[in-house]
Amino acid sequence: MDSLEGLRTRLIVEGGHRLEGSLAPPGAKNAALPIMAASILCEGEVVLHRVPRITDVDVMAAILESLGARVREQPGGTLVIDAASINSNIAPYALVSKLNASFDVTGALLGRFGRAEVPLPGGCVLGPRAVDMHLHGFEALGANVDLEHGSVVVTASQVSGATIALSKPSVGATKNLMLAAVRAHGQTTIENAALEPEVVDVADFLVAMGAKITGQGTSTIRIEGVRKLHGCEYTIIPDRLVAGTYLLGAAITRGDVTVTGLDPAMLSGLSEVLASTGAAVEAKGVSLRVQGVPAWKPVDITTAPYPGFPTDLQPPMVAYLALAKGTSHVEETIFDARFVYVSELLRMGADITVSGRTAHVSGVPKLKDAVVAAPDIRAGGALVLAALAAEGTTEISGLEYIDRGYEFLEERLAALGATVVRASGVAPVTPRPDMGNTVKLPKIVTPFRVQPS
Ligand code: UD1
Repeated sequence: MDSLEGLRTRLIVEGGHRLEGSLAPPGAKNAALPIMAASILCEGEVVLHRVPRITDVDVMAAILESLGARVREQPGGTLVIDAASINSNIAPYALVSKLNASFDVTGALLGRFGRAEVPLPGGCVLGPRAVDMHLHGFEALGANVDLEHGSVVVTASQVSGATIALSKPSVGATKNLMLAAVRAHGQTTIENAALEPEVVDVADFLVAMGAKITGQGTSTIRIEGVRKLHGCEYTIIPDRLVAGTYLLGAAITRGDVTVTGLDPAMLSGLSEVLASTGAAVEAKGVSLRVQGVPAWKPVDITTAPYPGFPTDLQPPMVAYLALAKGTSHVEETIFDARFVYVSELLRMGADITVSGRTAHVSGVPKLKDAVVAAPDIRAGGALVLAALAAEGTTEISGLEYIDRGYEFLEERLAALGATVVRASGVAPVTPRPDMGNTVKLPKIVTPFRVQPS
């Protein structure tokens, strides 16, 4: 990829179309990535279904291959990982630096080989990604932790079970420590564990490989170490954050969208907030439907660990509240820098001020088209929603972030009635009446072969 490709490739979104219809969300990114890392722990073959077709999965597959695993893709979102041939415990910086979730390979390599050398995750646009709880946990399990040339080197002659009390219910630390402990000698207890459904999915996957884990989904997880794990076939849970983005898309476009195949309880935090703004929210069996209303009320929210309002849906929710009738206050408690995208919404006519950890969102009657850039995955989701509701045609760059988290975005949106195309070419490309016929229409790029199911 040349260095300007990320700027040249854009989504062109024509505003003013209602989203209507139903969709089955892809597999959860935040379960798929640690589950792929967890496959390191067995010497057999792991067959994973409902793996999302996103670039983060490609990076994790490349990391596993660099360690010696064989990874095969099958049609329909199935990955086959054979970790028997892994012959390295050193994860390469060039790949790890692209993906914070790659730090999950540390626990898995420690669990299988008693040694892992993994570059320390740097910051990302959301701020520095701390791993102190991961490292203290590894030490509690009997490992030595050193920093050498920017990499964390974790070694243990024997990983031994221990009681680890997390100072915060960190999703990343809970997953990583489960991976390190499943093949340990003796029993491990993780207290103040994260409750997120993706943590439960990782635990359920480990159980499918022969691990002995109880308490996943509660704040105390107990793991009885086993000597070996075996291969298995496993289907990843649907992505509640992607589902939530589309449901907010229904609300912001005054549309009507049903997500199917997902336990609505996974989105209770979002459902409560949406209902309080006046949107109609209906949970039935394994489907969740949101119908937008012509005008909606403001609401005050605070992001929180599961089952609270998810930090990942904060940016799309702010896009929705930018059009509410009144002022909302949105407090971000998980990631300090999670309001970086607000400046882009301002360029679309939103009225938002950020002070400290709180955004004051004063609803405006309409948003207007603009050329904007997504600074991270969910901020990209927020800009797409704003563009769907805005007057005119908005161009969104930063697709390298959006493609990390949203599978087949434009195809799925088109199936729901949106007019969205992926384009490349020299900006600006949007045909405007005052520019006559001199504008070259964008070249449409189709990045994926497979059609959305
Ligand atoms: C976070 C979200 C998760 C979401 C994921 C993807 C929470 C609690 N976690 O998980 O729901 O799916 O992003 O965007 O909402 N921390 C430390 N030290 C550590 C580890 C974490 O101080 O060793 C801090 C982090 O800086 C952060 C908080 O704990 O403020 C939660 O972090 P964590 O849950 O680990 O983040 P992710 O795993 O990325």
